[in-house]
Amino acid sequence: MSTHIGAANGAIAERVLLPGDPQRAQWIAENFLDNAVCYSTVRGMLGFTGSYRGTPISAQGSGMGMPSASIYTHELIVDHGVRTIIRVGSCGAIVDDLALRDVIAASGSSTDSQMNRVRFDGLVDYAPVADFGLLRAAADTADVRGLPMRVGPVLATDAFYTDRPDLYGRLARYGVLAVEMESAAIYTIAARHRAQALTLLTVSDQLVRDEHLSADDRERGFAAMVELALETAVR
Ligand code: HPA
Repeated sequence: MSTHIGAANGAIAERVLLPGDPQRAQWIAENFLDNAVCYSTVRGMLGFTGSYRGTPISAQGSGMGMPSASIYTHELIVDHGVRTIIRVGSCGAIVDDLALRDVIAASGSSTDSQMNRVRFDGLVDYAPVADFGLLRAAADTADVRGLPMRVGPVLATDAFYTDRPDLYGRLARYGVLAVEMESAAIYTIAARHRAQALTLLTVSDQLVRDEHLSADDRERGFAAMVELALETAVR
């Protein structure tokens, strides 16, 4: 057991898919994992362990935003022995050559969160990045599966509703592809504890053109990315 995850020792696999939405964790368990069992319902943040092509895998909700994702990432790694975390999430594209349903692998993550400023006494702007081995495995797997996947940096923001949408355009000019709300914290905490982390994202919002997926489309678009994440996790 850890403070926010009600799982017995050994109940969580070393490899975890981490969607923000706990219902999405259940959907992954029911549709992609064999013999999945629920190991935690604490705060409704569901977690399941099953297997994928014979390898134990867990799916755990992280909640929205870096404070929540930090708690689950820390406890998974430090208290439950998790070594590989692949976030499977959605994002808003801030460049015009990405379309709804496109898949992105976040190679690096800029952030407006103050968490790392506090961590390094404001002396260093730490650059959270994906684990290279996992990123390479995801890119190779996407190639083999014929799934187009864009690799590049994203912004992890604290604010879904922002008064500064102009900053997105400025970030896009510096190569940032999309905005989401968890990757910088997940990458930082995984690095701190020598675990591997990667963030895969499906474009659910095209912010340049004000286009948005419906709830149904979000689910369908998610399946290809979840399969990619599972294949990457078991390589
Ligand atoms: N902003 C932040 N996070 C997101 C968005 C967005 O527009 N879409 C999906 N996750």
